[in-house]
Amino acid sequence: MFDRSTSTKGEAYGDISNDCQVTDRCRIGANLRQYAEPDDLAESCHHVLCGHHTWQQTKAQCRLGGPDMIPILPETAWREFRGTAASQGANLTTHQALIVDHHGREHRCYVKAAPPGNWMPLTEGIGWMLSDALESPRPEFAAVVLLPLPKLGRYMKLDQHWLRYPNTLAFCCSAVPGKHLLARWKWWTRLRTARAFQHPDLARIAAFDMWVENRDRNTGNFLRTKEGNYVPIDNEFILYSLLWAATLTVAPHSLKDEASAVLKSAGYSNFEGAMVLASKLHEGALRKAAPALQQFVHALFSGNPAQGLAMAADILQFLGQRGQPDWLANELGHIV
Ligand SMILES: Nc1ncnc2c1ncn2[C@@H]1O[C@H](COP(=O)(O)OP(=O)(O)O)[C@@H](O)[C@H]1O
Ligand SMILES: [Mg+2]
Repeated sequence: MFDRSTSTKGEAYGDISNDCQVTDRCRIGANLRQYAEPDDLAESCHHVLCGHHTWQQTKAQCRLGGPDMIPILPETAWREFRGTAASQGANLTTHQALIVDHHGREHRCYVKAAPPGNWMPLTEGIGWMLSDALESPRPEFAAVVLLPLPKLGRYMKLDQHWLRYPNTLAFCCSAVPGKHLLARWKWWTRLRTARAFQHPDLARIAAFDMWVENRDRNTGNFLRTKEGNYVPIDNEFILYSLLWAATLTVAPHSLKDEASAVLKSAGYSNFEGAMVLASKLHEGALRKAAPALQQFVHALFSGNPAQGLAMAADILQFLGQRGQPDWLANELGHIV
């Protein structure tokens, strides 16, 4: 998976050191030049060096139009433990913490750690960036952060296997004020009244999930806000056949299947119609997000640029094909 060994072009990125540090001036690797003029690059490069990890990012890349890549933050960005998750999912490292971005802004986030080589930071990051390009409901802020495991271990009990690592990549995103439709009876009551599925957010999320091949939109993976909107929060198992299926089987959960089980035929037909309509925005969103996605994948694979290039190309091709305006309608058997 990710090859995080130090790049052979190490000197081009600055001094390699075993201590985690952020240097504010450094030279930029060749794979980033296409995104900015050299003058911009010199000014503001955040270069995270940590033992075998190297990533780099410049503010200049963000000025080039289109949405930004989500930041990749050093260990020092994890400032303060703020509690465990109210409802624990499968990942037992999920907790709340204060995260500080490159501009010094603080974000109260949910943070979840990935074992080395796990796809989760990549897929969660891509999921957030696509939602951002679609301008659909999402947590306000998202980042990949190098999580200091011993520090976290002072506040919550970590499974034995984490103790082998001084740090690991984690995904974090700001806390969404909302509630689950978790309790089974509540969910079914809601379904019976079918009100939830009349909300355009749910058809939009269902369309998004088909586009990115999200295998796991269970009821814990979106929240209902006070205002009655729905915000997806866990996009871990997107790009399922491309990345996960070879090593992991995830039981499928989708809003489309829930809708078809619960709605009457006319209601379900409307739901699918709304999905088809929402899918028309996917191609444009991908076009908008592609440079940031590419940059993000390259950054996560900076130890192995060739693998990063191939991975970014595969992901963009996968999303491009499924993002075509008629793809989802065809999948659903709608006549276009
Ligand atoms: N951004 C967020 N805002 C509010 N709650 C969150 C957020 N992210 C995670 N949570 C809470 O933490 C739980 C586990 O997070 P999730 O990302 O779904 O991890 P897992 O992969 O373990 O399912 C969620 O079900 C939810 O209760
Ligand atoms: Mg979850």
